[in-house]
Amino acid sequence: MVSLRNYNLVKIVLKRYYVSMIKELEMNGRVNAELVFHLGRIASGEIDFHAWLGTSWGLLFSHPKDFTPVCTTELGATAKLKDGFTRRNVMVLAVSVDALDSHSQWVNDINEKQNTNVDFLVLADPDHTVSDLYDMIHPNANDSLTVRSVFFIDPKKKIRATITYPASTGRNFNEILRVIDSLQLTDGYSVATPANWNVGNGVNIVPSLQDLEVLKKEFPKGYTVVKPYLRITPQPDLM
Ligand code: BEZ
Repeated sequence: MVSLRNYNLVKIVLKRYYVSMIKELEMNGRVNAELVFHLGRIASGEIDFHAWLGTSWGLLFSHPKDFTPVCTTELGATAKLKDGFTRRNVMVLAVSVDALDSHSQWVNDINEKQNTNVDFLVLADPDHTVSDLYDMIHPNANDSLTVRSVFFIDPKKKIRATITYPASTGRNFNEILRVIDSLQLTDGYSVATPANWNVGNGVNIVPSLQDLEVLKKEFPKGYTVVKPYLRITPQPDLM
């Protein structure tokens, strides 16, 4: 016979377990969460995403559907920025719920019509494993296709930024490179990049840094104090 006390204890333990599981699921895909999926299907077989990334940065982005106009221009635009991604040490991985043979036929179209060479990976996710894990399917928009999600992954396999657009709005891939520049710069120095910042513009010193000796050492070019919390310094060199 299970006593009422034991029954209540089991209920409490189960509740705690489910709450922590749900919390863990909710953290997936959020800023500073660990990248949790490892395997996916690409043209040459299965990919161990962690091993493939190695010590590089990663860009994982979903597109809603193969053979559609906006997605076609997005993959073409990404391919044309290959040098920009390589210079920043970023490996690119696209994902959609369509199947592999569809991807390869579509990539031929993109190469031909966008005059480019899509040589980054396009993951096939027909069973929604990756799309569900990262909340790329927003049922109020469409319950079977992904929205346009972007995940910026750092060399420690942490998701450092995310962007989400609806299917009807194509992304600006120069903005994606700008976000990577900001992440890489702010990892190296005690700075944050202000609104509309681009490489070469001044940056803000983080408010937590107040030690005058450290400030002098870290910002030899000096800085302007607009307000005690708003200090502007010339951009340090990107690593
Ligand atoms: C597009 O890429 O053009 C698209 C894809 C899915 C829904 C709407 C537009």
